Amino acid sequence: MAEHVHYPVLLHEAVESLNIQPDGIYIDGTFGRGGHSAEILKALGSEGRLIGFDKDDQAVAAAEARFGGDPRFTMVKGSFASMGEWAAERGVAGRVNGIFLDLGVSSPQIDDAGRGFSFRMDGPLDMRMASTGMSAAEWIADVERQPLADVIREYGEERFAWKIAGAIVAARDEAPIETTEQLANIIRTASPTREHRIDAATRSFQGIRIHINRELDDLKDCLEDIFEVLAVGGRLSVISFHSLEDRIVKQFIRTHSTADVYPRGLPVREDQMRKPPLRAIGKAVRASKQEIAENVRSRSAIMRCAEKQ
Ligand SMILES: C[S@@+](CC[C@H](N)C(=O)[O-])C[C@H]1O[C@@H](n2cnc3c(N)ncnc32)[C@H](O)[C@@H]1O
Repeated sequence: MAEHVHYPVLLHEAVESLNIQPDGIYIDGTFGRGGHSAEILKALGSEGRLIGFDKDDQAVAAAEARFGGDPRFTMVKGSFASMGEWAAERGVAGRVNGIFLDLGVSSPQIDDAGRGFSFRMDGPLDMRMASTGMSAAEWIADVERQPLADVIREYGEERFAWKIAGAIVAARDEAPIETTEQLANIIRTASPTREHRIDAATRSFQGIRIHINRELDDLKDCLEDIFEVLAVGGRLSVISFHSLEDRIVKQFIRTHSTADVYPRGLPVREDQMRKPPLRAIGKAVRASKQEIAENVRSRSAIMRCAEKQ
């Protein structure tokens, strides 16, 4: 199988945002092919530690091949949503100096037709990042029109979700939908309008992929745990690729970095006020024109960073 390359997005900005301490402990929750991990390791001294997480078997194998010989590096196969539990079991809870997430799918996942993520190439309708759980084909074989439409509407932000879901259900009642091309063609035929330069299957595929991989739930679960994982002064940096993810990260940082508002006249001294648990670091960062020209995938990337207080 051809080895597909992943170009890390916002690489220097991400590593800089983590404010790396050479002897600190860092978590790369989305190892992928290790582009960001490699830069973090470069900034770490011999006492530093980096823990990589990825749910994808191929990413885990790539991590072992690339950094398996580095005593500072540990790879965990699993969701970043489990990092709180992992940190507690390994005695690093409250000691981690930085958590980094580069959300979504990697280029090797998208570019390998056999993984079933792409509507541009025909392959088995799978879409799983991990090798466990239900594939897209299995889910579509049984799902009712309403929950299918909800997923396509909410996670795909597709306004023709109800119509598309109806077409998918009607088609699968005739014959199983087993390939990405079959599904993409059903969606294209059901879509009432054609858009310039956007394949009609784009949004529905995104919605189904997010559902199959519990992408937004995993993100929320992970964010809930960061307070137990991070040390005071530890940083969280997250790169999102669409508005649904970014909204979750933005709201999380906003909610936890806003001080309590006390009614005017209430006798509360400054030292009695609750300090918010997070401090937003800088503004949201986007890729430069040059990076976008070199890697079109960076066009939709947005990075946010916060520090535990
Ligand atoms: C955009 S890529 C990361 C690329 C990486 N930063 C690099 O430079 O190579 C996202 C990776 O995160 C993984 N991933 C996505 N959601 C995950 C989750 N909830 N838990 C663990 N890994 C996840 C995917 O399998 C994929 O390999």
